[in-house]
Amino acid sequence: MSLFARKPVGQIITESDAGEHKLKRTLGPKSLIALGIGAIIGAGLFSLTGIAAAENAGPAVVLSFVVAAIGCAFAGMCYSELASMIPVAGSAYTYSYATMGELVAWIIGWDLVLEYAVAASVVAVSWSRYVISFLKDFGIQLPAQFTACPFDQVVLADGTQVAGIINIPAILIIVLVSILLMIGIHESSRVNAVIVVIKVAVVLTFIGVGFHYIDWNNYTPFIPPNTGKFGEYGLSGIMRAAGVIFFAFIGFDAVSTAAQESRRPQRDVPVGIIGSLLICTVLYLLFSFVLTGMVNYTLMKGDAAPVATAINLTPYPWLQLMIKLGIICGFTSVILVLLLGQSRVFYSMSRDGLLPPAFSNIHPQWKTPWLSNLIFMVFIGFFAGFFPISKLGHMTSIGTLLAFIIVCAGVLILRKTQPELVRHYRVPCVPLFPILGILVCLSMMTSLDVETWIRLIIWLLIGLVIYFCYSRRHSRLSKS
Ligand code: ALA
Repeated sequence: MSLFARKPVGQIITESDAGEHKLKRTLGPKSLIALGIGAIIGAGLFSLTGIAAAENAGPAVVLSFVVAAIGCAFAGMCYSELASMIPVAGSAYTYSYATMGELVAWIIGWDLVLEYAVAASVVAVSWSRYVISFLKDFGIQLPAQFTACPFDQVVLADGTQVAGIINIPAILIIVLVSILLMIGIHESSRVNAVIVVIKVAVVLTFIGVGFHYIDWNNYTPFIPPNTGKFGEYGLSGIMRAAGVIFFAFIGFDAVSTAAQESRRPQRDVPVGIIGSLLICTVLYLLFSFVLTGMVNYTLMKGDAAPVATAINLTPYPWLQLMIKLGIICGFTSVILVLLLGQSRVFYSMSRDGLLPPAFSNIHPQWKTPWLSNLIFMVFIGFFAGFFPISKLGHMTSIGTLLAFIIVCAGVLILRKTQPELVRHYRVPCVPLFPILGILVCLSMMTSLDVETWIRLIIWLLIGLVIYFCYSRRHSRLSKS
């Protein structure tokens, strides 16, 4: 069988709701928007806005958010069109199976592990840091060696420096979120909705309070002149900052992995993707405008917590705690939606025979791929607890951008090869918008460092070995 054999869209849709491997359809448009916001607003906003303003764009970081939002909007529209045509759980993996064939589909499914599973362990490690700091504010000190992996050094109470043993909080959050996901999609989505309300409230509070402490002089110059180096202010600085804060937008595509659990996926998944992107873009623009208005961008250089500096300018120190709470909630829902996405992509790959059947084993009562959640809980928890995984953050960006490019290309291909298929949502201005999507994502990919590229290539090579040793032989499409 050809490596580029494609799975017909009709067959994908008929198979998706058949047999005992069926997922439960409970999600409506509001839950899907909440899932999107759950995955999008996280540490990116709170920690990267200040850095990007100080080092690259100045107050014009607001414009960088516009640029990144436009890039994501192209990709978001393409995801929406494909999700409205092929409303199944595999997202970019399934779309490429229908357009570019099995090998590309496998590569993209394997690549999505970077966006979902690797990101979840990275975020779990950061979650643990914020929880430790939050508890410290209340006088609760966790034993240092049990909050760091063996590769990291910690300072004990007596001042001695030793290696960590295990990062228990990071493991804990992975276990808790995985159990929730195993129990049910409805329960998971309810918890996500509560978290989303809290974190959006925190962002709105910061914007509302901070607005009164803006020093309007901080906006001059709005676009600081370029220093002569690419990426240091000026137009190139705005673009470089857009690449940095792109991370803050990652996650909206996870909505499409819940398509098979949506009541009316053709209509609601596009609403979920575009709605959550729109809401977050507005919040991000306001947030970055207020932050750079409160604190002069030159003062945020080397400041790891510029939001904290901004809050110190107000007479409300409790806001400090609120922001930390917002970040912790943000991280929690990001982990939740990422793990959800991961298990759904592997669910689809397993149903196609490219991965072992364990990944599509649906619990008779909970109607979730519980075994897949369990396997990922063990793996991701292990990595988060024992490895200095936080250095792998860029892998998420590169993996996501690659998936975005494939999805944009998928729209172009399907418009040509299967123009007759019903599309409940259509990307406007085809081929321009998908092509722009590909170009914007490519340019962001090229701004990432060589090490990240090498890691991506190694990861994809490992994937190819698995494909040729296992998946190709078990592929349902080739058997049929
Ligand atoms: N967009 C998510 C964040 O900013 C990944 O944490």
